[in-house]
Amino acid sequence: MFTDHTLTVYSILVLHGPNLNLLGQREPGVYGLTTLNDINQMLIAEAEKLQEEGLTLKVTAFQSNHEGALIDAIHGAIGQHQGIVINPGAYTHTSVAIRDAIAGVAIPTVEVHLSNIHRREAFRQHSYIAPVAIGQISGFGAESYRLGLRAIVAYLQQQSLNTHP
Ligand code: DQA
Repeated sequence: MFTDHTLTVYSILVLHGPNLNLLGQREPGVYGLTTLNDINQMLIAEAEKLQEEGLTLKVTAFQSNHEGALIDAIHGAIGQHQGIVINPGAYTHTSVAIRDAIAGVAIPTVEVHLSNIHRREAFRQHSYIAPVAIGQISGFGAESYRLGLRAIVAYLQQQSLNTHP
C-alpha cells in the first residue's frame, strides 16, 4: 500500500483596512473588544490547528490606513501567496482601486467583516469588493476572520483537487 505524503503548503495574506488598528477601543458596541493583535494570534492558532489536519499554512497579516499601501500589498502577493483574506474596512464601500487590484492579481480572495454590513447604514450595504471575491463573511465579529481563513483554505483545496484529481 502506498501512502501519499505530499505536503500541502498554502500561504495566505490577511489584509486589514483602515481603522482596524483601533479594534478593542473603537466603537466596542459595534466591533467588540477583541484587538487586531488578538485576531492575528487567533489566525496563527487556527493555522497550527490545520497543521494537525496535514496542511501547512503560513499566515501573513498586514494592516494599513492607506488605500495605496493595501493595493501595493495586494500586488506584492503575486507569486507569494495563494489566497487573500481581506477586511477592507470603509474602503469596502468606496474603493474601485482595491477592487481592481484584487481582480488584477487574480488571487482567490475572501472578504470579511466583523459587523453585518447588510443590516447597518445604507452606505455600508454596498461592497465594491464582493463581485471580485469568492465570497463574503459578515457579522460574526472576530470569528468572521477564522471562518474566512477556513473558507479560503477549503476553496484552494477544492481547486487543487479539480486540477490534480
Ligand atoms: C467593517 C465594516 C465597514 O463598514 C467599516 O467601515 C469598518 C469595519 C467591519 O469589519 O465590520 O471599518 O469592515
